[in-house]
Amino acid sequence: MSNERAQFVTRIGAIAATVGSAVGLGNIWRFPYEAGKNGGGAFLLIYIGCVLLVGIPVVVSEFIIGRGTHKNVAGALKQLAPGTKWHWMSYMGILASLMILSFYSVVCGWIIEYLFQAVSGNLSGHSAQDYTNMFNAFVANPWRTVMWTVLFLCINFLVLRRGIKKGIEKVANFMMPVLFVILLVFIAYALTLPGATKGLKFLFFPDFSHLSPKVAIGAMGQAFFSLSVGLSCLLTYASYFKDSDSLAKNATIVAVLDTLVAILSGIMIFPVVFSFGMEPEAGPKLVFEILPNIFQQLPCAYLWSVMFFLLLFFASITSTISMSEISITFMVEEHQLSRKKATLLNTGIGIAFGTLCALSFSVLSDFTIFGKTIFDLFDFVSSNILLPLGGVFFAWFVGWYVDKKFVDNELTNHGTTKVSIWRRPLFFCIRYFAPIAIIIIFLYGLGLFDTFL
Ligand code: PFF
Repeated sequence: MSNERAQFVTRIGAIAATVGSAVGLGNIWRFPYEAGKNGGGAFLLIYIGCVLLVGIPVVVSEFIIGRGTHKNVAGALKQLAPGTKWHWMSYMGILASLMILSFYSVVCGWIIEYLFQAVSGNLSGHSAQDYTNMFNAFVANPWRTVMWTVLFLCINFLVLRRGIKKGIEKVANFMMPVLFVILLVFIAYALTLPGATKGLKFLFFPDFSHLSPKVAIGAMGQAFFSLSVGLSCLLTYASYFKDSDSLAKNATIVAVLDTLVAILSGIMIFPVVFSFGMEPEAGPKLVFEILPNIFQQLPCAYLWSVMFFLLLFFASITSTISMSEISITFMVEEHQLSRKKATLLNTGIGIAFGTLCALSFSVLSDFTIFGKTIFDLFDFVSSNILLPLGGVFFAWFVGWYVDKKFVDNELTNHGTTKVSIWRRPLFFCIRYFAPIAIIIIFLYGLGLFDTFL
């Protein structure tokens, strides 16, 4: 069975695809601001600690299950826990992936709109207020936002339809190096600007007075979303890894590169923001209002804005293809759908729920559930509830449930790779530290600590 199944052709391709999944909007528009606001270098230390002690152990757990079975999430759990109901946990990951796909695609739609505007030269020659008005008017336009969401999901479909080697791996092999090059070109320029020192200080200066349990827990949540762990996305990609790939090494490379891109994004953004006397921000305001306004004041304005939105597009589509792959592989292997049909179904679901998320900023802005618009609800439920629960499950499953021999065989490639000295600490984190830490994030995400922290 594993012989007929698709695999990533090269190890570099497998890593590019996995890093592509991890590097996304979480790195570029959320991490730099969180770091700067919450103690700079001090936050960074805590973030790196979270990646090492919680992130990598769960990444390795998902890799072990995926590569060890070469199956989709439900198939893998059925094989490792036969005759039990543990495979039901796979539905949680699939649900999370569809929810994230829905709201993420809306933002990707905005990115295409701005890429389109940048290419047609419409992003220059405006006042700061114009950019704010432009963005507010755009998101309030139901037709335009839905149209771009649908268009984005169609592009996503076209990549996925071509399968693992010709679709996902090829796109990642092209987009990830280009993404790094664009990032480095931006940084080289940003560091020559007069505000560079102030920007770097904002990002790196360690201010321990900002630290609190709340900040530490926030860093853990960020590490989780950024590494794409907890919803079986990495499990599914690992099911396409070769048996000769070293799982611990792949996990480390992915975590290092993901963190590097997050830090580099800060080095790209803050010098520019401070050079123009602007206040740092996160999210849509930073990307769709502040930066376009700054770009138009730079020499070669056209080029900078096109490059920036291209960077965002590459970062986000390599993430959406990875989350879509979870349900596609599931439908193909568990329900015998053709890849084309499964991909169509995934896109259809994305379009239906993506439309609801897109309309959360216009006609459905007053429609709330538990005080949240559909967009916010999908974001909240997936990131704060389903991902942490999935993370605890994968760590527990590998640390306590799965046969030790199976886990050892995967980590050492059936005894052919040397067992590293990190094996013991890694196991300690998988069994104890990661599940406990994630349960804390989970409770925090539900607001249970609000009265204490
Ligand atoms: N890691 C991506 C980011 O940082 O934007 C988001 C993501 C991708 C989450 C894939 C979940 C996933 F399955």
